[in-house]
Amino acid sequence: FTTETTPSQTSLPPAARVGRLRRNAAARRMLVETLLRPEHLILPLFVKDGADEVKPIASLPGHAQWTVDRLDSEIDEAVALGIPAVLLFGIPDHKDDGGSGAWSEHGPVPRAIARIKERAPQLLVIADVCLCEYTAHGHCGTLDARGGVDLDATLPLLARTAVAYADAGCDVVAPSAMLDGMVSAIRSALDAAGHQDVAILSYSTKYASAMYGPFREAVASAPAFGDRQGHQLPAANAREAVREALRDEAEGADMLMVKPAGAYLDIIHRVHRRSQLPLAAYQVSGEYAMLEAAAQRGWLDRRAAALETLVAIRRAGADLIITYYAKDAARWLRESA
Ligand code: PBG
Ligand code: ZN
Repeated sequence: FTTETTPSQTSLPPAARVGRLRRNAAARRMLVETLLRPEHLILPLFVKDGADEVKPIASLPGHAQWTVDRLDSEIDEAVALGIPAVLLFGIPDHKDDGGSGAWSEHGPVPRAIARIKERAPQLLVIADVCLCEYTAHGHCGTLDARGGVDLDATLPLLARTAVAYADAGCDVVAPSAMLDGMVSAIRSALDAAGHQDVAILSYSTKYASAMYGPFREAVASAPAFGDRQGHQLPAANAREAVREALRDEAEGADMLMVKPAGAYLDIIHRVHRRSQLPLAAYQVSGEYAMLEAAAQRGWLDRRAAALETLVAIRRAGADLIITYYAKDAARWLRESA
């Protein structure tokens, strides 16, 4: 019987002493298996209609809705921090049942794309493609008689939206509706419009999750009735998730995505092992909000906790991470480099 908290190791066989290499900082540094660097990070940006306004988002501290004329400081900061890409979400002043604001060339997203490409052509611009920010009812497409998303009617609208963003100059479109056929519909429409070089990052593996709460509040895109269980994945299913990913690969996606990230590391790992496409993971608004809320109360060390979640997402197999920590993490990583 011993009162020591760690067992004495003297009786261990030599090969069992795996902690030997952790005693020395240089050894720890050279044996890091997973690298997390600013170039792995994608910064989400919310762009709104109107002028001269920066509207903070309470549930996403440090993030705001930006009018396009005020976006320059964010663009410059992303570039200075070595972040290679931004992901744009639009917040229109007006919504209708068909979501027509999504493909308007005067909408916030096309105007933001043009502004970013003018100011920082080297920054990769990814535009989220969905209708839920633009429909009055908050669903991801037009509705059929039963109140469900009408797939056949919606796919051409998503394709039209993707072409509008490509026309504005984006490099990548990221369809997030989780609708069957959206990738192939968008691929053919882009090609027909002469945008063969615009890539598709599909939200291929997106769960029906409670973690999107702060985002939906930020963009006022919560469904007015019902939910998204009719097209997003159920949390309990992993094989179905891999099937979705491989289906989008077959439809012509250039990159895949798992979303959310933290509660779905096993899914990231499975998709990583089954597909050779670059894989992104989205650390969503609720994941960020949970960490921020705990850090604000002093219950977690903000920097350490955030970096730990990000390196875990990379370790699971994600090449890229979309995260509200992109700017902070890039700064922390540079400081410690
Ligand atoms: C839909 C979309 C959502 C998110 C990204 N794209 C919300 C949803 O599916 O309801 C969520 C992102 C986040 O929570 O950070 N266009
Ligand atoms: Zn949507």
